[in-house]
Amino acid sequence: MARIVAGVGCSHVPAVGVAIDRGLTADEYWAPYFAGVEPARAWMAELRPDVCIVVYNDHASAFSLEVVPTFALGLAAEFPVADEGYGPRPVPPVLGHPELAWHLAESLILDEFDLTLVNEMAVDHGLTVPLSVLFGQPEAWPCPVVPLAVNVIQYPPPTGRRCFRLGQALRRAVESYAGAGAERVAILGTGGMSHQLHGQRAGLINVDFDHAFLDGLVADPEAVAGISHTEYLREAGAEGIELVMWLVMRGALDPEVTEVHRATHVPTSNTHNGLLVLENR
Ligand code: DHB
Ligand code: FE
Repeated sequence: MARIVAGVGCSHVPAVGVAIDRGLTADEYWAPYFAGVEPARAWMAELRPDVCIVVYNDHASAFSLEVVPTFALGLAAEFPVADEGYGPRPVPPVLGHPELAWHLAESLILDEFDLTLVNEMAVDHGLTVPLSVLFGQPEAWPCPVVPLAVNVIQYPPPTGRRCFRLGQALRRAVESYAGAGAERVAILGTGGMSHQLHGQRAGLINVDFDHAFLDGLVADPEAVAGISHTEYLREAGAEGIELVMWLVMRGALDPEVTEVHRATHVPTSNTHNGLLVLENR
């Protein structure tokens, strides 16, 4: 039977992808951030999950404002890397796991999470940057990926609590999968931490909020699940709402987890960058 072996929260700042793609990680600006990445990479290399479920948000790359699914599950065998305006990132295509993904779709929908099913989807920095953070620059990604896109672009996004409950349902879905080749599943929640990219408060970063969020996410996720949209907006900036995707990841883990690694760095681009690796006890 399949089980979830680890959860990772990871910011998905596009400039981090550029730094990796262009070999800038040892530069003065980037070196302190990438020092914090190393232990997570080493740990993932040892863990070698069979599949990664990546909970991320699309930034108007696959979905325009014409269609905005709240939760969209990727069922394809391959997800091309999106062109976000500068050509696709020079990273391998993302291979899916249709058999596991269809099982997740069935289990989740029968469990009353009515997902949008997506058979064709380009994946943007929300998904590819965390893969690069965790796996570096391989010829091919080390495992298949099941993408789960969450709307945090168009109001109203799902609540943190709904995301947490989705994570719990995802866990039930994974644990009822009996197919081969997906015994050990890692789940990633991407985005955040505090940042705001536009408007009068552009550049907002709130380190205190982010640290409290991380502490709470580890030790008392039910409480963190109660953070309202208004509080994210006020405390973590307009794009801080991306943190709800970390709650999907956390919901898929045990109530009590072991914190394997935590690194935060400010700033990377406009964001207080977070990386959190959790493991079931
Ligand atoms: C930045 C962060 C994001 O999460 C994003 O989607 C785009 C840009 C940034 O900090 O530059
Ligand atoms: Fe983002």
